[in-house]
Amino acid sequence: RECHLVILFFFPVIMSKPILLILYGSQTGTAQDTAQRIARQAKRRWLQVQVLPLDNYNVANLISESLVVFVCATTGQGDPPDNMKNFWRFLFKKSLPTGSLSRLDCAILGLGDSSYPKFNFVAKKLHKRLLQLGASILLPVGLADDQHDLGADAVIDPWLTSFWEKLFALYPSVADVIPLREDELLPPTYTFHFLDDVKEETADRLRISTDQTVHSQSQPFPARLISNKRVTDLSHFQDVRHIEFDITGSSLEFDAGDVVMMRPCNAPEDIQQFCQLLRLDPEVRFTLKATDNSAVPARLPQPCTVRHLVERYLDIAAVPRRSFFELLSTFATNELEREKLVEFSSVAGQAELHSYCNLPRRTTLEVLADFPHTTAELKVDYLLDLFPEIQPRSFSIASSLQAHPHRLQILVAVVRYKTKLYKPRRGLCSTWLASLDPAQGDVYVPLWVKKGSLKFPKEKDTPVIMVGPGTGVAPFRSALQERVAEGKTANVLFFGCRSESKDFYFRSEWEEMMNAGHLTLFTAFSRDQEDKVYVQHRVKESSGLLWDLIANKSACFYIAGNAKQMPASVSDALKEVFQQEGGMSAEEAEQMFAVLERTGRLQMETWS
Ligand code: 2AM
Repeated sequence: RECHLVILFFFPVIMSKPILLILYGSQTGTAQDTAQRIARQAKRRWLQVQVLPLDNYNVANLISESLVVFVCATTGQGDPPDNMKNFWRFLFKKSLPTGSLSRLDCAILGLGDSSYPKFNFVAKKLHKRLLQLGASILLPVGLADDQHDLGADAVIDPWLTSFWEKLFALYPSVADVIPLREDELLPPTYTFHFLDDVKEETADRLRISTDQTVHSQSQPFPARLISNKRVTDLSHFQDVRHIEFDITGSSLEFDAGDVVMMRPCNAPEDIQQFCQLLRLDPEVRFTLKATDNSAVPARLPQPCTVRHLVERYLDIAAVPRRSFFELLSTFATNELEREKLVEFSSVAGQAELHSYCNLPRRTTLEVLADFPHTTAELKVDYLLDLFPEIQPRSFSIASSLQAHPHRLQILVAVVRYKTKLYKPRRGLCSTWLASLDPAQGDVYVPLWVKKGSLKFPKEKDTPVIMVGPGTGVAPFRSALQERVAEGKTANVLFFGCRSESKDFYFRSEWEEMMNAGHLTLFTAFSRDQEDKVYVQHRVKESSGLLWDLIANKSACFYIAGNAKQMPASVSDALKEVFQQEGGMSAEEAEQMFAVLERTGRLQMETWS
């Protein structure tokens, strides 16, 4: 009877509560993690919530929504993440009437990095547009910054406090309820239903159809690995791979400057250790059922083996986020482990979490091994709440279809470095790619391609100047192959590496192009002599040629690569060329540089 009374008492309160829709645009998973964190806070306040990537939401329904939180990252050059590109196009349609979102109360949280020029550009632009369309904005846009000493949470936490205050003011019924405690476990998003039979693991390894006409993230093309060659000398510090895929039978098309996307798999030894720690049998099969309105991830076959889930879906090799500790702490019964996990989840514990995890780049798997009691207590239903999905990685395409029909090639530096931890750190995707061996039978890598930010001139006579040290040369190899095939022969390449004998990639190809009169090449071998020589030094030395090409022949100038300071140093060198050869002041050179950038004659693609 008491129970009935409670229901009757709370019923009107529940009825007057809003449904909170949380829409996110996320490239690396941080905005998604933040969106899910807001959803958990909302569920603790007994709110009904729905969390979706923006492109999975039917944007036409926005006119009838009453409460939405937008969590949007800004990527590289001020662009929206891939999973909100369609929404972005729709939102900026001129035909949308002003005032069409007048029913909507919303809040916008941006995730960005202030070391990039267009800091949180997407969130700011979204704010302007939503205002234009008549929406009410509940509080100032949150501008989270990765560069902040304490991470993005330094902005997100106070922003969220303020958001809940505004929401309580708008819906007093939400403020009245007693929220669930932070250490009380919410229901999992999915439940696992194990099957009794154990089937061959290979049965569900690659369920990717090849008969699709458009290959995208949701329908990647299984490209067969043709070759995987080390292109650096064995005595060189770095393993760099030239990898070739067969894309025959696909509809994949790409131009110079485009990128290929793929998701790496976890290493067999990591899968084994993970299953041991969590006491899971990798061969057992299960189906997933959503406990709320979430869709079951389309990428997971149903039924699916535990091995498939761990190998291809759960990101156990990344540095875990704070939200991971929040959830992990709720499973802890061992007092010592619980105390530490609660500290890592708290605002006050963020500096310590940073030095435990982020600085030494400790992986999720290593953290699990550090908290063995808690790990052994984890409930399998929470796996997809605890571990984020492995994110796709992008690589500049290093070949042209005109020179290599039905082939796609990339140039990959295998990431490996030391921190204070005993085991060297390894890049998940590059290490996985390096491990693939076509001699061991057919190896298929699901992939898709995406437009890149570098665009090369259509006009036959426009010269191009390309500066690509190290693997930065990849998109320029594609461009050179394409341009030479099209009879565009005004090409200048600046290539830099450590040593002529150790990491001078594609040397014979460049020599062939030079001999045919299709390429002018400048090289900077940084460690073949006492003093460092870099591409920017060669740029300055070639000032006469560069000025003539840019000022008199409308040349386009490109910079690509992953050295942190390199793009800025090359830019400075170019401005010096303008001053020296064009007789400009420093200010005039800056202006000329800015004009070239704005008109697309100066483009950069940099990565870390
Ligand atoms: P280094 O490793 O000897 O310093 C490809 O990685 C090439 O880029 C290498 O020769 C590397 O030199 C060079 N490089 C490193 N930092 C650079 C910078 N700030 N500007 C230009 N080139 C750089």
